[in-house]
Amino acid sequence: ETFYLKDYTPFGYVVERVELVFRLSPEATRVLSKIRFAPNPDVSDREFFLHGEKLKLISAQIDGAEVAPNVTDTGLSCEVPDTPFTWEAEVEINPKANTALEGLYMSNGMYCTQCEAEGFRKITYYPDRPDVMSTFNVRIEGDEKVMLSNGNPGESGEGFAEWHDPWPKPAYLFALVAGDLLNHPDRFTTRSGKDVELNIWVRPGDEGKCAFGMEALKKSMTWDEEVYGREYDLDVFNIVAVDDFNMGAMENKGLNIFNSSCVLASPETSTDANFERIEAIIAHEYFHNWTGNRITCRDWFQLCLKEGLTVYRDAQFTADMRSAPVKRIEDVIELRARQFPEDNGPLAHPVRPEAFQEINNFYTATVYEKGAEVIGMLKRLVGDEAYYKALDLYFNRHDGQACTIEDWIKVFEDSTGRDLAQFKNWYSQAGTPRLSVDESFEDGTYTLTFRQKTPPTPGQDHKDPKVIPIAVGLLTPTGDEVLPTTVLEMTEAEQSFSFEGFKTRPIPSILRDFSAPVILTRDSSAKERAFLLAHDTDPFTRWEAGRELAKASRIAMVIDGASPDSNYLEALQSLVRDDHLDPAFRALVLAPPTESEIAQALADQGVTPDPDAIHDAAETFAQTLAQSLSDSLPRLFAATLVDGAYVPDAKGAGLRALNGRILGLLTRIDGGEAATKQFETANNMTVQNSALACLLKAEKGDAQSQAFFEQWQDDRLVMDKWFGLQVATARPERAPAIAQSLTEHPLFTIKNPNRFRAVMGALAMNHAGFHQADGSGYRLLADQLIALDPLNPQTTARMCSAFQTWKRYDAGRQDKIRAELKRIKATEGLSRDTNEMVSRILDA
Ligand code: ARG
Ligand code: ZN
Repeated sequence: ETFYLKDYTPFGYVVERVELVFRLSPEATRVLSKIRFAPNPDVSDREFFLHGEKLKLISAQIDGAEVAPNVTDTGLSCEVPDTPFTWEAEVEINPKANTALEGLYMSNGMYCTQCEAEGFRKITYYPDRPDVMSTFNVRIEGDEKVMLSNGNPGESGEGFAEWHDPWPKPAYLFALVAGDLLNHPDRFTTRSGKDVELNIWVRPGDEGKCAFGMEALKKSMTWDEEVYGREYDLDVFNIVAVDDFNMGAMENKGLNIFNSSCVLASPETSTDANFERIEAIIAHEYFHNWTGNRITCRDWFQLCLKEGLTVYRDAQFTADMRSAPVKRIEDVIELRARQFPEDNGPLAHPVRPEAFQEINNFYTATVYEKGAEVIGMLKRLVGDEAYYKALDLYFNRHDGQACTIEDWIKVFEDSTGRDLAQFKNWYSQAGTPRLSVDESFEDGTYTLTFRQKTPPTPGQDHKDPKVIPIAVGLLTPTGDEVLPTTVLEMTEAEQSFSFEGFKTRPIPSILRDFSAPVILTRDSSAKERAFLLAHDTDPFTRWEAGRELAKASRIAMVIDGASPDSNYLEALQSLVRDDHLDPAFRALVLAPPTESEIAQALADQGVTPDPDAIHDAAETFAQTLAQSLSDSLPRLFAATLVDGAYVPDAKGAGLRALNGRILGLLTRIDGGEAATKQFETANNMTVQNSALACLLKAEKGDAQSQAFFEQWQDDRLVMDKWFGLQVATARPERAPAIAQSLTEHPLFTIKNPNRFRAVMGALAMNHAGFHQADGSGYRLLADQLIALDPLNPQTTARMCSAFQTWKRYDAGRQDKIRAELKRIKATEGLSRDTNEMVSRILDA
C-alpha cells in the first residue's frame, strides 16, 4: 500500500485526554487505555478507526459498556456514539519477543519504547498520527527500580509510578522506560527562573560516562534561550541510554531516549569524533522540544519541518561551541558522502516526499541534511535578523499545532514580505542541481554567468529552476580581497552578474561557505586552485580548492595512469608545514576524497569507475605524499602530541585529528614504529584508536588488535570500534572474508543494531572491498540482510542503501548486485520496509 501526501484528511475525532496503565511483564505486558474522544467538528465523514498491530485485544468498552470491534492486522473499527465518549481497552503485548525495536521492547532486561514514526500502534489501539494531539496520564506497575514516562512525575510508591504530561502531544512522542537504572543528576534554572531537574539514566557500570552528556545538555538549554529565546517547559528532563536502538536518539517529551553510543562518553573509551557527535545529538534532541514537540508535523510527509530545522539548529550550536568553519566543512563532507548519492540515484526523493510505503524508509539524508541546507539557504536569502524574526512568528503562531511546510513558508512570507513560491521548489523537486559558471572580463567589468540544471529523478522528469543563493568573493592575483562575500540570488536557468571597476581580472571564490547544496562545475586551472588554497579568505572555499585539486589529480591517475600532481603535492606540503594554520583545518586539507566520491566523479564524466584502480590511486598518492614529506614527518608528528590531561574540546580534537593524519603518513615509511609507540602509551581512545587503525592498515597490527580486544572486551561501545576497524582498514581483497569471519565471532550479534552496523556498515564503506569483482562483498551483505529482516526490518531496510549506487559500475558488477537484490526481494515473508527499498533500488 502506498500513502500519498495529496490524500490527507483530518481524523474524524479529537482526543481530549489519554490515560494509560502499564502492568509490566516481559512476555505479557498488559496495557489499559482510557481515551476521551469527541467528534471533530471540522470533519463530516467520520470513521472510527484506531491503529493497532501485533496486539492481543483482551477487552474493549465504550462508556463502560462492552463492545466487539472489527479487528484486522492493522487496527480496529467500531460503532461509536456521535457525541463525546470514553473508549477503554485492555491489550496484551510481548516486549521480550520484540526484536524490531519499535513499540515497547526489552534491551538488556530493561523496558523501553520507540514510537516514532508509527510504533505506538504496537502498544495499544490509538489514532497513531501526528495531527492527533492529547495530554497523557500514565501509571506504570512493575518491580523495576526506576519507571519513567513523559512529563512531570506524579505519585509513586511500592510497585508503581505515575506521570503526567500537561503538553498535548502526538503518540509518536510517547515514551516509557523501566529498569534497574542509575542516574547522573543535575539541575538547570531557566532564564525565567524555573528550576528543572535533569537526569541521565544508565545501566549500572555506565554511570562514569554521563558527565559530558550532562554538560552538553545544559549548554544546549542555555543556547536555545539565548539564540532562539526558547525555554524548557517541564519540571524534569530525563535522558536514558539504551544499548539496542535502531537510530541515534529520540526526542520523546521530557524523556529523550538515546542509543548508548550517542550519549555515553569517557576519554578512555570515546574518540573526539564521538564527543562531538554526542554533544550534537544531545542538542538536537533537546532542540526538538520546540521544533518538533511544541510545534509538530501534520503528517509524516512533513517530516523535514521538524528534522531539517532541528538539524540546522544543532549545526548552529556546534558551530558556536566549536569551530564554525570546521563544522561546515565536516557537514559538506557528510552531505556529499550520504545525501548526494541518494539524490542522484534510484532512492532520490524530494525533501518533502509525496508518497511512501513505509515512512521509516524516509528518515534519510535528504529529509534531514538537505532539509537543513534548505533552512540555511532561506536564512542566507532573508538575512539573520529577518530569520530570527520569522522564527519568533513561527513559535507564536503555531505553538501547540501540527503544521505543514506551507505553514512554515507562509511565516517567512508574512514576516519578510517576500514571495517564496519559487523557493518552495527545494521542498518539492528532488535531485542535486548542477551549477556551471563562465567568466568574462571587459573594460574593467567582470561578469559571472551561471547556468543551473537539475537532472531528472525517479518519477520526476521535469525540473524548474531553483532559487540559489550563491555567495561569492573576488580576489586580486596578489591575494587581496576586492569583493568581500556577497550573496547573488540566482532564480533563472541562466543568469549573469557583473562587477565593475577592476583594473586587473579578479579571481573568483564561488559558493563560499557552501551556500547551496549544488554541484558546482567550473573549468579552472590547477594554478588557480592552488592560489585559492593558499589565499582564499573563506575557509570553506579554501578547503574546497584543495579538494578539487585532489580530485582532479586522482582522476588523472585513474584515467591516464598519471603520477600524483606535483602542484598539489607541493601545495599540501607547504600547508602541512604551516604552523600558523589551525591544526583542524590542516587535518581536513590532508583528508583525501573518499574512493566512493572519486567513483561518482568518474561516473559523472561518463567513465565507468573501477574500484580497484581507484583504490590503487589512493594508495599511490598517499605513499608518494609520505615519501615527499619524509624529512619533516617526525617533526610534524611530534608537534601534534598533546601533553597533559585529555580535554574533548575543539582545540585538542583538531590537534589529534592532525596527529591521526600525520601518523597515517608516517606509518607508511617508519615500519609502524611511531604507531606502535602511540598505541602503547595512549591515555585516550582517540589516539589509541588512530594508532590501531594505522597499524591494521599496514597489516602490522595483529598483536595490538589482540591487546585492544583483551583490554576492552567488556565495553560494548569500544568493541563496536574493534569490529568496525578491522573491516574498515582491510585490504580490499580481504575485506569480505574478514567481515564474514567477524559475523562468526562470539561477540557478534545480529540483534544489536550497533554491532551489526559496525561490521556491515564498515564493509559497505570499504569501497573497493565491498565492490570486489567476485561479488563476495555483495553476497555477504545480502546474506546478512536476509537473516536480519525477519528480526529487525527497519535496520535491514536502511542498510539496503549500500546498493543504491550500483548503476555506476560495470556490467559484471551490476549483474551480481542485481542478482543479490532479486534474491533479497524473493525472500519469503520479506518486510514491507525492505521490500520497498529493494524495489526502488532495482526499478531505476
Ligand atoms: N526523531 C528522531 C531524531 O531525529 C529520529 C527517530 C527516527 N526513528 C525511526 N524509527 N524512524 O532525532
Ligand atoms: Zn531529529
